[in-house]
Amino acid sequence: MTSKEIRKTFLDFFHSKGHQIVPSAPIVVKNDPTLMFTNAGMNQFKALFLGEAPIKYPRVVDTQRCLRVSGKHNDLEEVGIDTYHHTMFEMLGNWSFGDYFKKEAIAWSWELLTSVYGIDKDRLYVTVFEGDEKEGLPRDEEALQYWKAHIDESRILFGNKKDNFWEMGETGPCGPCSEIHVDCRPDDERAILDGKELVNADHPQVIEIWNNVFMQFNRLKDSSLKPLPAKHVDTGMGFERLVRVLQGKQSNYDTDVFMPLIDVIATAAKKSYGDDEASDIAMRVMADHIRAISFAIADGQLPSNNKAGYVIRRILRRAVRYAYTFLDFKEPFLNTLVPVLAKQFEGVFDELIAQQDFVQRVVLEEEQSFLRTLVTGVQRFEGYRAPDGIVNGDFAFELYDTFGFPIDLTELMAREKGWQVDMPGFQTSLEEQKQRSRAATTIDTGDWVTLLDEDQVEFVGYDSLEVETQLVKYRKIAMKGKDRYQLVLSKTPFYAEGGGEVGDSGWLMAGDEKIDIVDTKKENGLIVHFTNTLPSHPEVDFVAKVDAERRHDIERNHSATHLLHAALKKVLGTHVNQKGSLVSENSLRFDFSHFSKLSEDELRSIEHLVNEKIRENIAKKEQRHVPFDQAIAEGTTALFGEKYGDYVRVITFGDHYSKELCGGCHVPATGNIGFFKIVSESAVAAGVRRIEAVTGKASEKLIAEQGNALHQVKELLKSPKDVLASIQSLQEENNRLRKEIEKAVQEKAAVLRSQLMEKVEHIDGLNFIAEKIDLADADAIKSIAFGLKDKLPNLFLVLGYGDEKPGLTVMLSENLVAEKSLNAGAIVRELAKEIKGGGGGQAFYATAGGKDASGLPRAIQKARHFVQSASV
Ligand code: SER
Repeated sequence: MTSKEIRKTFLDFFHSKGHQIVPSAPIVVKNDPTLMFTNAGMNQFKALFLGEAPIKYPRVVDTQRCLRVSGKHNDLEEVGIDTYHHTMFEMLGNWSFGDYFKKEAIAWSWELLTSVYGIDKDRLYVTVFEGDEKEGLPRDEEALQYWKAHIDESRILFGNKKDNFWEMGETGPCGPCSEIHVDCRPDDERAILDGKELVNADHPQVIEIWNNVFMQFNRLKDSSLKPLPAKHVDTGMGFERLVRVLQGKQSNYDTDVFMPLIDVIATAAKKSYGDDEASDIAMRVMADHIRAISFAIADGQLPSNNKAGYVIRRILRRAVRYAYTFLDFKEPFLNTLVPVLAKQFEGVFDELIAQQDFVQRVVLEEEQSFLRTLVTGVQRFEGYRAPDGIVNGDFAFELYDTFGFPIDLTELMAREKGWQVDMPGFQTSLEEQKQRSRAATTIDTGDWVTLLDEDQVEFVGYDSLEVETQLVKYRKIAMKGKDRYQLVLSKTPFYAEGGGEVGDSGWLMAGDEKIDIVDTKKENGLIVHFTNTLPSHPEVDFVAKVDAERRHDIERNHSATHLLHAALKKVLGTHVNQKGSLVSENSLRFDFSHFSKLSEDELRSIEHLVNEKIRENIAKKEQRHVPFDQAIAEGTTALFGEKYGDYVRVITFGDHYSKELCGGCHVPATGNIGFFKIVSESAVAAGVRRIEAVTGKASEKLIAEQGNALHQVKELLKSPKDVLASIQSLQEENNRLRKEIEKAVQEKAAVLRSQLMEKVEHIDGLNFIAEKIDLADADAIKSIAFGLKDKLPNLFLVLGYGDEKPGLTVMLSENLVAEKSLNAGAIVRELAKEIKGGGGGQAFYATAGGKDASGLPRAIQKARHFVQSASV
């Protein structure tokens, strides 16, 4: 079976068992503060497990692209070194949300593996949770009983909490699990040693392929386990491993998932895969990492200097570094793999092929800039002398932090020189940095205090800005050392930050008490209100009221963003895709894919089109419950990397102008926006441009400020009729004067030069001139010095000048430098001491500046000492 067939077989099998096939969520996670990237198939269903969102399909199946490169599940350092860990991998999963449980999950996994995929039964082992006394968890007898119906008891092993109790992160849904392992060793090896001994022992041929988790608990902040409202099944099968087993390969990389990439790499590197360990590792690293990088970018995460963006940048750099060191790729190459990958995933994850050019461009520019850094870092290393053959930990850390050198690269380069790296020192610096960034970002979250047994909260903020409500639950959090509270309300008009739009602020009121709600955010399914204090009586009825003025300013900017997006597509072309957006009460910021700077004309056309749409006063059409497929078929703009449900909200401003999938807040008609003004256009990353703009009050203010500035300019120019003409004539006048001055200076320099020629002293074969001159133009002095050098052999020239800012110039004939070991730089530095300054330059020509002009005569006098020691 090809990998495509293997994937399809999985989906079809569970479909035949009543499972709904759903798409993969984006690899980049946006609304879960505990997670940057999707690290398991279950992430997108977290709210369902916790009972915080309604269950649409009780049985679901999918293939989820995952990334395990940060946080609790992090495999990055293994990737490429071994043959079965990956950064991005696909997780095939079947789910039951409060529907079937252990019996069916176990039976179906066995049926699929042995009857459908035809894996030899006596190559399989399963593990079952042995229980944990400290957690108060019993052995999983139920799973054991069900397995016994399929597999000989001798092949059922018990595993501890580490291997057989799956947890999403520090907190969140979890439960006992049962893993299926397969022994891929050849028969003769199997005859010698039972595969049982090698399960969970990091043997490259005896590997886990499938994990069946029986979700039963929520791990709380205080590390206790709280039973979930219902019992669920979460299974995850490593697709790349499964393909390897079914295709009978020794390594995941030998399958048709990775070989197309490795072939391209090997050909370009003029090497064969399998020839030597170091270049094989490099090829695996590249083939693996390009997948993670490409899908992260396609899902909206650009490489950057912080958080998720930095993780992606680090992965990219790891790949470039391996390519550079072990395969001799000195020019960008990784980006050329993007089209190969896009083609491979056509029909599976079409996000990539749809944005292929953009992704390739981003990777290319990242590669270029990192290769430059790498070269600078290597030079830095070459210039370094390791005291006693030990590379200082601080220096290793500087290479790591500033030049992106992984520590193993530094170790490698050190070894080549016969040096060692002070690893404890490096670790200390690294740890210190981690502490610093942890201290800057840590949010310490307490557990929820529940008041109402209410699972679902109601958002009414599209229609009202004020409602009566109750507190469902609250908790205390500490952000940057400050205490804050998070409140969940039974009903709320507050829009939670999302889709680029900032969260609402406002008030929570009961009796005489009025508490500020400073921000609103979404956490999985919940709308969370942030306050600085807790209401004194949390159990009473409240009125929740949004700050309407601020909200309406936000709405103006959001609707204007839609008009802008449509205008960009019309003026620049349909390749324009949204890459980021920030809508606040003050302004809007819109990032989009486009490859060149926008011209003034383009900007004016875009601005004009948006303002025209504002003047047309187009009424908003808001549809809250459109089937996703229908919306797409109608040409609604959707975003890459966004997770949409089966039903979506569509915001339309003109059926033929702007139609977007959007959950945000908008003006009732475009006229409300008032006026739209672009403030700036700039580049944010490779192939991504940014427009910042203002609307409503802010645009009025901007225009007023600009008018004011113009008014002041006019006044300065004494109110001419035509300001532009007046500035132009000032500039012309200025140019003319500058030229005249230059000419005068040159004339003066010529005169000075001939005067200096007459002051030559012939001292022991040297032509010595040391004078203070009345000229302060550096260029002119330089030309005097060079002129004199051309005219006089054996020249030793020292010029002092400047009454305010004193300066010195030393010029020597080349033969004096060569034969007499004279050095203009050393001389000028010595002389400059007299004017309290410093300088330098080349051996025959050097300059210095200083602070004390009264020292110039002394400096000139001092020059004579040097002549005496250097006579020819
Ligand atoms: N959540 C489990 C895992 O990631 C099974 O899908 O392994």
